Amino acid sequence: MNRAETPSSAAAALTDSRLAALTAKAAERAFANYQRRFDEITHRARARFLAHDLKGSYADAAERLHLYGDVLADLTTQITDLMGPRLRERNVWSAIKAVYSSFVAQSRAWEIGESFFNSLTRRVFATEGVDQAIEFVDSDFDAPPTSSPFDVGRIYSGAALLELISAALTNPEAGGFAAECWDELGVSVGLAAERVEAEFRGAGRRGSKVRLEMINRAFYRGGGAYLVGRAISDGSNGVGLPLAFCLRHEGERGVTLDAVLFGEADLSILFSYTRAYFRVRADCPHSLVHSLRQLMPDKRLADLYNAIGFNRHAKTEFYRDFIAQLNASADHFNTAEGTPGMVMVVFTLSSYDVVFKVIKDRFDFPKDTTPNEVRRRYKLVFEHDRAGRLVEAHEFEHLRIRQNRFEPVLLEDLLRATGKTVRLHGDDVVIDHAYVERRIRPLNIFFTEADASQRAAAARDYGQAIKDLAASNIFPGDLLTKNFGVTRRGRIVFYDYDELCFLTDCNFRDLPQAKTYEEEMSAEPWFSVRENDIFPEEFLNFLRLPEPACAALLEQHADLFHPDFWRSVQRKLREGEIPEIFPYPPERRLVTAH
Ligand SMILES: Nc1ncnc2c1ncn2[C@@H]1O[C@H](COP(=O)(O)OP(=O)(O)OP(=O)(O)O)[C@@H](O)[C@H]1O
Ligand SMILES: [Mg+2]
Repeated sequence: MNRAETPSSAAAALTDSRLAALTAKAAERAFANYQRRFDEITHRARARFLAHDLKGSYADAAERLHLYGDVLADLTTQITDLMGPRLRERNVWSAIKAVYSSFVAQSRAWEIGESFFNSLTRRVFATEGVDQAIEFVDSDFDAPPTSSPFDVGRIYSGAALLELISAALTNPEAGGFAAECWDELGVSVGLAAERVEAEFRGAGRRGSKVRLEMINRAFYRGGGAYLVGRAISDGSNGVGLPLAFCLRHEGERGVTLDAVLFGEADLSILFSYTRAYFRVRADCPHSLVHSLRQLMPDKRLADLYNAIGFNRHAKTEFYRDFIAQLNASADHFNTAEGTPGMVMVVFTLSSYDVVFKVIKDRFDFPKDTTPNEVRRRYKLVFEHDRAGRLVEAHEFEHLRIRQNRFEPVLLEDLLRATGKTVRLHGDDVVIDHAYVERRIRPLNIFFTEADASQRAAAARDYGQAIKDLAASNIFPGDLLTKNFGVTRRGRIVFYDYDELCFLTDCNFRDLPQAKTYEEEMSAEPWFSVRENDIFPEEFLNFLRLPEPACAALLEQHADLFHPDFWRSVQRKLREGEIPEIFPYPPERRLVTAH
């Protein structure tokens, strides 16, 4: 091709408004393409569920996670070509934003479209902080009013509770499955109705008429499908009891109702930031998120967008919330409580329950990993099933925060230990890369504060957390309690990923028996140890758990300290077994064993 015909030089000849229109159109097309492919994958969930195709379900989840980045990479190339030397002309970008805004005004997913545009401009400009002229820092649109009952809901009323539940479960137009797909529908519905009635009795609302308000679509994840909503009794002034029907489909039996969850706490655990995203029809994400928020008012919008698979937009929502919090508060960023990291500098604002983690330039002894390797492991967690036990870490780039919000000691520490990532710019601190995650109470601190029964309960769940991770093919690497935390729902989760690896890559060994006195007394191992060798019999020595935590852990999870347990999990994983980790405790199940 003649040089004069290349698109780059063609851009030079276009008026600003023409170039803006062409670029905005390309961005709009790319966004439409993203949405179409997102919906396609999401719509497959129902068939995967009915075919009990767990492998396919996980593959879809992974494909959908990559989609945004893939579409955006293509678009960036296309626009770089289209705009040529004018790629970074800010006045053109202000015009592009205006044209694009008129496109997304037509979309039912306008906020997702705005974030998509932000992702594009941030790629082009590597913007420090944010820039309202070329980004949708705030939305261009007032959110439409949301209503109660749900915008995306279906009400079942005017019959006995049994019939209402049955109608909700079997209505295919509202996420349910036709009666003929079910195994023992009547029995399940009977058990579910009993549970709902018991919950109402507990709340002193016996005898009143009940209606069900359900979100009119199913939420799919792993091998499960979930129908969520609330039960409202006449006497309750419209305050409902949030609930979730948890459906499974295994073997030839048909669909079963495995469990019923009640209350905000149960639902919060189902929609937790420690789990993979749901696949759920979300033609208007705003309506869906606001309906969910009526059930879980404590969750941030960011968490709910995340839960339904819009993790990039969740970052926009998080950022808006964070800036609002900064403006509404005056406290200072400080080093997070707990044992300081050897790999990360971790800091937090006492008035806001997230932590910021910045990778150090150099790691303290004995860490021999590299910053890239640390990032690789955090990425692995993002892509892997988090099993309800790994805190989600969002990556942020080029954060800009006023210097006077930092405690001087922390700032000094950041500039010294993370100088490649953190620098001063005028009155601001610019952070080129940070992981942002929910702040939880580090388990080592919790053990010093909690009473005996809380310590025992935490230790039991700590053991279960390690087992859940094992079942999902994850070995945390560093089992020390400083790397685990307690959520506000009392669950034990893990947050330090720099040594995390696949369980099937580990070599779980028996501890060799010493044959001589010298071997017995040796401080260092007298046998050779390779990198992936792990000796479960030694775990308990270095964990140094307080009592009664130690006894409680041993009582319920003594098998963790024997290599046989680990090797048997490895065997199952290698045979392709994908064990289901339920997002609810066994007592919520209607039938405890299949
Ligand atoms: N999500 C969180 N909530 C609360 N505190 C946290 C969180 N993440 C980290 N911390 C605190 O920061 C410390 C260091 O974090 P982290 O363990 O992730 O870093 P690290 O450098 O990888 O640690 P290590 O030296 O153990 O490898 C933790 O010991 C804990 O006290
Ligand atoms: Mg740590």
